Order: sequence, then C-alpha cells, then structure tokens
Amino acid sequence: MNDGTIWLPEQASTLAPEIDALFYFVYWTSIVLFVGVVGAMLYFAYKYRRQHPGERPAPVKENKLLEISWIVIPTILVLIVFTWGFQSFVKMGTAPPNSYEITVTGEQWNWSFTYPNGTSITNELHVPVGRPVRLKMSSSDVIHSFFVPVFRTKQDVLPDRYTYLWFEATETGTFKAFCTEYCGTQHSAMDAKVVVHEQGDFQQWVKTGGGVADMPPAEYGKVLYERQGCNACHSLDGSDGTGPTWQGLYGTKNHPLSGGETVTVDANYLRESILQPGAKIAAGYGNVMPSNYNSLSERQVTSLIAFMKQQSDKTLDSGGAPLEGSAGAAQ
Ligand code: CUA
Repeated sequence: MNDGTIWLPEQASTLAPEIDALFYFVYWTSIVLFVGVVGAMLYFAYKYRRQHPGERPAPVKENKLLEISWIVIPTILVLIVFTWGFQSFVKMGTAPPNSYEITVTGEQWNWSFTYPNGTSITNELHVPVGRPVRLKMSSSDVIHSFFVPVFRTKQDVLPDRYTYLWFEATETGTFKAFCTEYCGTQHSAMDAKVVVHEQGDFQQWVKTGGGVADMPPAEYGKVLYERQGCNACHSLDGSDGTGPTWQGLYGTKNHPLSGGETVTVDANYLRESILQPGAKIAAGYGNVMPSNYNSLSERQVTSLIAFMKQQSDKTLDSGGAPLEGSAGAAQ
C-alpha cells in the first residue's frame, strides 16, 4: 500500500495508481521545465549583462532548430497528457458490468446510502474490497459532490438527475468521503465514513441490514440516532441544539408547542413528529427538520422511540424526578 505523500493521500482503489502516475508526470515535467527555463534566464541575464555604458546589443539571428524544438516538444508533452488523461477519464466514467450498485442520496447535509436489499444507512458507506462498486447518485435539494480522496473519484450529485461514480477498493479499512460542492451552512460538515470490508464480512453486513437485524429496539434506536443523523440536532445530555434535547423528553407533560398549546410527549406524539416533523413544533424551535424521515420503516420508528424513552428512564435511574412531575426535564 502507498501511504500517501505530502501531495496525495494513500491509494485505496484500482484507479488511484493510474491517476497518481499522471499527476506525478505533470508534476515532474513542470519541475524540469521550471528549473530549465528559470536557470537559463538567470544564466543569460548574467552572461549578456551590459559591461560598459556605451555597449549596444548585437542583432540576434533566428535559430530554426531552436524555434522548431520549442514548438514540437511542448506539443508532444501536451498530447501525452491529453491521451493519458483521456484514457483514465473514459475508464473512470465506465463502470464494469458486474459492478455492485448502491444508491446514494445527498441532502442538506447528509449522505444516505441504500443497498439492493433495502438496507439503508446515513453518513456511512460500506463496500466490499476487490469488487467494482457503482454509486447511483441524486440529490433531494441542491447540488452536492461526492468525493473519496483515497479512491481518487469525485462526481457532482444533482437534483432531478442521476449521476454515477464507480471504484474498486483495494484496501480494507475506514476512509473519508467529503461533499466538495458548497451547499449551504453545514457544507463543511457534510462528510461520510467509507468502510471497506472483506467480501464475506460485507455480505454479512448487508444481510443483517448493517449489523442490526437482531438488535433489541432501544439498542437499534441508538444506532439509528447516529446513522440517521438525529445526533446533528438532538442532544442526549440536555444541551440545546437545532432541535430539542432527547434527555428526559419522553413522558414530559405539558410540553409547550409553538402555537401556544401543549402536548404530552408520548409514543404517538414522537411518532408523528418523526414522520411529519411540521405537524406540531416544539416552542422555541423552527420548522427545520427534514421530511425524509417518513421513509423510515415501522421497526425503525419504534426503535427510535424506544431509544428516546430510554433517555428519560436514565434520568429517572440517576435520581431525577419521577415522570409525573418531570416538568424540569421538559425545558
Ligand atoms: Cu453537500 Cu456541500
């Protein structure tokens, strides 16, 4: 494995060595030309400097060989770079026919990945090593761009259209993917973990829905809390965020809503708030929760609510007020 250099990160896909070879060809050619041109310039400036005040420059005669070579050599260099780059470009744009396809959706400001069996996960792309993977990508809002530096692949992700990107990972491990198209305030935080598994482990991972098939509800809810990006807005420690904290939220009586009325935070209220975030908005918060959570499965919604309930039970366990009078936890 190539561990990366000051210029480029490590190589973890079949395309990477080829992209890097072209990069270094341009890089070293530029250095040789730069040193040659600047060196000659400095040398001539010294050699042909004016030696005394009355000196006049001698007429310069053309040199055919010199003129032809400074046209022919750069032309050849540019053609090499073009041919080489075009071949790689075509290769990058053509996924092998046996590719494994994963659907990618970009939305402000999360990446979600859906597998052929319906397994879906947010901000974590799991792929097998040694097998071509093709990403079928679209956006539910603005233009994003999916970039995995160690794979040397990047592609814009557009609303109302599918774009594609493929790679074959050559190393197992955990890498990073970034959004590289400015897409709003949280653009710089719109990244994803890329986990490359051994083929057998990967198959197991997909079959168990991302390793969660047999998890009890509250435990699965905790996984979803992270995978679905709930943690970006809802804290578990009582601190304020874009949305209300989940600490002690479940079971709260007289939870104030933005319209002035109140509600008891029970499973039905939470369910409605997940599936239709705009229906009842907690006082002091905006109507900013994405509506795409209505695609969560029944099991996922139930598990998330079980996890929220646990966040209230914990408050009780640690000596907090009993639920009936837990108005303090409602704030
Ligand atoms: Cu999405 Cu930047």
